[in-house]
Amino acid sequence: MPLWYGGDHNPEQWPEEVWAEDVALMRRAGVNLVTVGVFSWSRLEPSEGRYTFGWLDRVLDLLADGGIRVDLAVPTASPPPWFSLAHPDALTVTRDGVRLTHGSRDTYCVSAPAYREASLRVTRALGERYRDHPALAMWHVHNEYGTPCHCDQAGAAFRTWLRERHGGLDALNDAWTTAFWGQHYSDWAQITPPRATQYLPNPAQALDFRRFVSEEMLAHFREQRDLLRELTPEVPVTTNYVLAGWASIDHWKWSREVDLVAVDHYPSGQGMAAAEQTAFAADLVRSWAGGRPWLLMEQATGYVLGPRMSPKEPGEIARHSLQHVARGSKGVMFFQWRASRGGAEQWHPGMLPHTGPDSRVFREVCDLGEALERIPTPPDEPVVEAEVAILWDEEAWWAVQGPGLPSAEIDYLAAAEQAHRVLWRQGVAACFAHPSHDLSAYRAVLVPSLYLISDEAARGLRAYVEGGGTLVVSFFSGIADEHTRIRLGGYPGALRETLGIRVEEFHPLAETVELPEYGRATVWSEIVHLDGAEAIARYPGGGPAVTRHRLGGGTAWYVSTRLDDRGYARVLAHAGLAGGGVPGVEVVRQRDRVFALNHTGDEQHVPVHGTDLITGKPVGGRLDPGGYVVVPV
Ligand code: GLA
Repeated sequence: MPLWYGGDHNPEQWPEEVWAEDVALMRRAGVNLVTVGVFSWSRLEPSEGRYTFGWLDRVLDLLADGGIRVDLAVPTASPPPWFSLAHPDALTVTRDGVRLTHGSRDTYCVSAPAYREASLRVTRALGERYRDHPALAMWHVHNEYGTPCHCDQAGAAFRTWLRERHGGLDALNDAWTTAFWGQHYSDWAQITPPRATQYLPNPAQALDFRRFVSEEMLAHFREQRDLLRELTPEVPVTTNYVLAGWASIDHWKWSREVDLVAVDHYPSGQGMAAAEQTAFAADLVRSWAGGRPWLLMEQATGYVLGPRMSPKEPGEIARHSLQHVARGSKGVMFFQWRASRGGAEQWHPGMLPHTGPDSRVFREVCDLGEALERIPTPPDEPVVEAEVAILWDEEAWWAVQGPGLPSAEIDYLAAAEQAHRVLWRQGVAACFAHPSHDLSAYRAVLVPSLYLISDEAARGLRAYVEGGGTLVVSFFSGIADEHTRIRLGGYPGALRETLGIRVEEFHPLAETVELPEYGRATVWSEIVHLDGAEAIARYPGGGPAVTRHRLGGGTAWYVSTRLDDRGYARVLAHAGLAGGGVPGVEVVRQRDRVFALNHTGDEQHVPVHGTDLITGKPVGGRLDPGGYVVVPV
């Protein structure tokens, strides 16, 4: 079976004459899957309960005739204007208490009964209409779940969720430390979502609300999924996560509920930074998928984040795509097929740009389609072996985004990205694991600033080291319990014994400090006392900055500051994690094939020999500047 190739197809934005041309050009590009209808609720149901499926029937028939399969979307991310006018109480309320108006997208409250009802109604209508359509390949529920609402209906649902989580009010008061600032709740009805308030809000309340939002949206997804499964038990149901500078949902939990893990990825960096972020994202998503194949549901043919949109350089579209495929994506999908001429994202690049098919981008899109046809889809089993795991936990990330922390510069994502980037440059294959996972199979586990950790996970990390593992923990890890309460007696409370240290004070840095041999330290420093560990690097004042503790059969390293990439790489090298790779040259091994990509502008040597599946040419251990090959092994 070939890899999936295509993108979001929004024919409702175009006159019908364009649709046939779309199919012809898709065929030219090798497109075999398109996502249809993501934002078409108002076109499908122009007034309550009245459906106009005719246009979608014609679109799907045209695609089916062209041999193109459909990832059919349930359009619930963008309720029609008639819906929000009829149900103003189903519109999003921000934490400042502002009720938003329709006019963009994602403006709904997932806890509003009217929204849930309308959403299931349109899901059922679509499911019943298209259950037997030959083009239907998968269901795409909603789009990038992630809109929190702070209205009273969300408040009621939040309280129900809190009762289940905490049991009684006493337990909640204790978990939230409401004794501080006299926030003690004597009745459930007093509890609201975290809304605009006079000064710092309660961090435990803020964190519980984020957990609730993820679960509330998951409940909505499940309802839609179950309905679709009932109608079409054979058709996989997915939803597209968004992977960028934020995470609104707990992806580990969600990934247990979808039939196919799918993600949208838009790097914020360009050039080499984009290649690094792409590798990071794809390794992370594969990990959410339990190591099995997943799907890149959206990316762009250009750079869309940041202050300027710019095209990707020649070759980058293919290289980014193959980075995903190398790490287990079952295909390459874009937002969107045809660049829009109007509307909010009229400047967003497409596979078919405003210029039309006579364009560099479309030629690269066609070449990529041809290349992908030659690469078989990986079987449904773990795709890539990684010896090193990086701990990833969205709850811990949310907690460091909370209020009142000792430094506003602690950045969990940046710490996780650095850990991955440094390994990537060394050519060390990495994956991600939740702190509660069984880690015993990994040679090393890296722990980026994991502020919050449960007792159970902390015990797991200790057992991992005692069992012979190498643990590298970065500053501000293991500080708080799952209710954001500080673990006492010296930081980092949960990991003190494992690391063989005791931290007495934190000293966030306003300026850069040079560490002999370990480069520049920024953001953070600590007064570290050795309690079994030895100092490997010291601050200019003499205090330990990097420590090593031998425990049982393993070793636990601690990095008490934010090192630059060079310094962090040195720690990893000391810990036995130097891979000897060339920065910018990646070699990813799947069971029966190896992908080699050269993100640099120079010719490079790679340990790969054989015949390239894409070109059919021999590969003799070298790659052209910007080149890539896929070689069976
Ligand atoms: C997301 C959405 C798309 C589109 C792109 C733009 O991924 O799912 O609808 O808005 O972003 O980059």
